[in-house]
Amino acid sequence: MCGIVGITGNKNAVDILLNGLQRLEYRGYDSAGIYVNSQDGKEYLVKEKGRIDDLREEIGADVHGTSGIGHTRWATHGVPSKENAHPHVSADGRFFLVHNGVIGNFAELKTTYLQDVKFASDTDTEVIVQLIAKFAKEENLATKEAFKKVISLVDESSSYSFLLMDNQEPETLYVAKNKSPLLIGVGNGFNVVCSDAIAMLDQTHDFIELVDGEIVIVKPQSVTIEDPQGNVIDRKPFHVDTDASEVEKGAYPYYMLKEIDEQPTVMRSLIKHYIADDGSVTIDDTLLDSIKKADRLYIVAAGTSYHAGLVGKELFEGLTKTPTEVHVASEFGYNPPLLSKKPFFVFLTQSGETADSRQVLAQVNKWGYESLTITNVENSTLSREATFTLLLYAGPEIAVASTKAYTGQIALEAILAKKIGEEKGISAATSFDVAHELTTVANGMQELVDEKSQYEQIAANVLATTRNAFYIGRAIDYDVAQEAALKLKEVSYVQTEGFASGELKHGTIALIEEGTPVIAIITGAKTAKHTRSNTQEVLARGANVINIVSRNLAEDGDQVILPDVHSLLTPLLAIIPCQLLAYYTSLQRGYDVDKPRNLAKSVTVE
Ligand code: AGP
Repeated sequence: MCGIVGITGNKNAVDILLNGLQRLEYRGYDSAGIYVNSQDGKEYLVKEKGRIDDLREEIGADVHGTSGIGHTRWATHGVPSKENAHPHVSADGRFFLVHNGVIGNFAELKTTYLQDVKFASDTDTEVIVQLIAKFAKEENLATKEAFKKVISLVDESSSYSFLLMDNQEPETLYVAKNKSPLLIGVGNGFNVVCSDAIAMLDQTHDFIELVDGEIVIVKPQSVTIEDPQGNVIDRKPFHVDTDASEVEKGAYPYYMLKEIDEQPTVMRSLIKHYIADDGSVTIDDTLLDSIKKADRLYIVAAGTSYHAGLVGKELFEGLTKTPTEVHVASEFGYNPPLLSKKPFFVFLTQSGETADSRQVLAQVNKWGYESLTITNVENSTLSREATFTLLLYAGPEIAVASTKAYTGQIALEAILAKKIGEEKGISAATSFDVAHELTTVANGMQELVDEKSQYEQIAANVLATTRNAFYIGRAIDYDVAQEAALKLKEVSYVQTEGFASGELKHGTIALIEEGTPVIAIITGAKTAKHTRSNTQEVLARGANVINIVSRNLAEDGDQVILPDVHSLLTPLLAIIPCQLLAYYTSLQRGYDVDKPRNLAKSVTVE
C-alpha cells in the first residue's frame, strides 16, 4: 500500500516523479505529494488530497528540481487530507520523508522523545521525520546516523519503506525498508527509487532489490548498500523485461476491462511457459519432489487469491489425491491449524507483497517447512522468501480488482496438479490433457468476452440500483460464487454475499425480498438440480434470479450460457460473466472501476 518514488540526478525530476506516482496510483489514491530540490537553493513541497491529477493541478510552472521524492497514500493513521499527505517535513524544515507501512510504536516514540515538537499531521510517519531532525540536531549526528538511530527505535511489529531527503545534501536519497517493498532503479547518470518497478520502467529496466534492515544511500552516480552492521554490500541489479507499454491502458477505457479481455491470452501464455510441444508439463523436479513427499497441502492467501486457492483444493485433491486445506492468511497468522506430519505450503499472491501472507511465510520458514509461491511478480518478496516460485506470466495487473491473476492462478494450479498427479500415477491426472483443456478454456473465455453487451444489459436490469445481491452455487460453483461476490462488492459497493446455495435456507433466505438479485452458478452435473431447486426457493420469495449455466446443463430461460469445459476448470469460465457484471455495474453507478474507494492493489500492511 502507498506508492513511493524518488529520483536523483535528473533535471526532469518533477515529471518523472509524477508519472511514476500515476503508475503507482493503484497502491493508494487518497492523497499525494512530492518534494523536489533544484540543487541551487530552491526546494518545493506540494501535497494534495485526492488523486495524482489533483496533485498535478497544484504544481505551479516554477516547481522544478533534479532530485526529489513522491508518495501516493492509502491512509492508515489519520484521515485522507493535505496535512496527512506525504512527504512529511521536520519542524526545522530540513528533512523530508515518505513512508509506506505502519510504525507500531509511533505513539510511544512521540511521548518519549517529542513532547516539545508541534506536529502538523496525525500520521505515524511524521514521528519518524521529527525524530531524525531531533537526533541530528541534539546529538549532532550525520543524517545517516540519525536515520539509523531512529530505525533502531522502531519496534518489531512495524513495517516500513522509508525514503528520506535532507536539504543540506540535496543530491542524496536515504533509503531503508522492513517488510515493505522497495527497489532501486539504476539509470545512466541518475538513479531512482520505487515501491514497484512499473513506476520507473520508462527510466530503466535494471533494478536492485533491497533486504530488510539495510540502509541505502542513493546519489546520481552511486548506490551504496550497507547491512545493519555497516558493511557495504555489493549487489547486482536484475533486469525486468516488462515493456513500459504493458502498463498502459491502450485503447481501453479502464484497466479492469483490458485485464478481463486478456484472460484467454493468459491461458495461452501459461501453456507456452509450462507445457512442452509433446504435452508434457515442465516444472522443476525438486519442486515436484517436495510436493510429492507432502502428506497435506496448505494453501495460504488473501482475497481473490484465497478464492483461487479454494478452486486449487478441488484440483489438488481431484488430480493428486493429496488432502488440501485453504487458509485465509490473516487468520492463519494468529490462529494456525494443527499441522500434518509432512506439510507443504502454497502461497497464492498476485502481487507477491501481501503482508498477511508474508507473515505466514515468515512463520513457515521459522518452522523449517518448504513452500511455493505462485505469483505474478518476479522477484517479489513472497517469491524471494519461499523455497520455490512459479510465475503467472499474466502481465502487470493494474486494476485494483483482480481478474486475470485469479484465472491465471487456477490454471497454474491445474498444470501443477496434473503433473504431480501424473507422477503419483493417479488416473484422474493421467487422463487429464491439461494443454488441450486449457486451450478449450481459452477459446471459451474468448467467446464470453466477445459478448459484452449482454452483461451490460443484465447489470442495468438487475444490479445497477439494487441495495444487495447474492451469488450462489454448490461445490466448485460455491468457490466461484465467493469470488463473484467479492468482485461485485469491491467495485460497485453493492453488499453482496457468495453463498453455498443449500445453506441459504438456514437463515440467510430471510434477506430475500421482492427484486433481490440472486445469481446462480450452475456448472456441476451432480449439483445442478439442487442449485436449481434453491433458485426456486428464492424465486418464490420474489428474488430476481439470473442463472449462469454450462451449456450441457442449460435449460430454457437460463440467461448466461457458458461453453463446456472440463468439470474442474469451469470456474475459469463461470467467473468471466461475473467479472463483467461487476465492471458494468460499477460504471452504471458512476464509480471509478479501477480505483474503488478504500482499497489498494497491494496490501502491504496487516
Ligand atoms: C482482489 O480483487 C482484491 N482487490 C484483493 O482481494 C486481493 O486479491 C488481495 O488483497 C490479495 O492480494 P495478492 O493476491 O496480491 O496477495
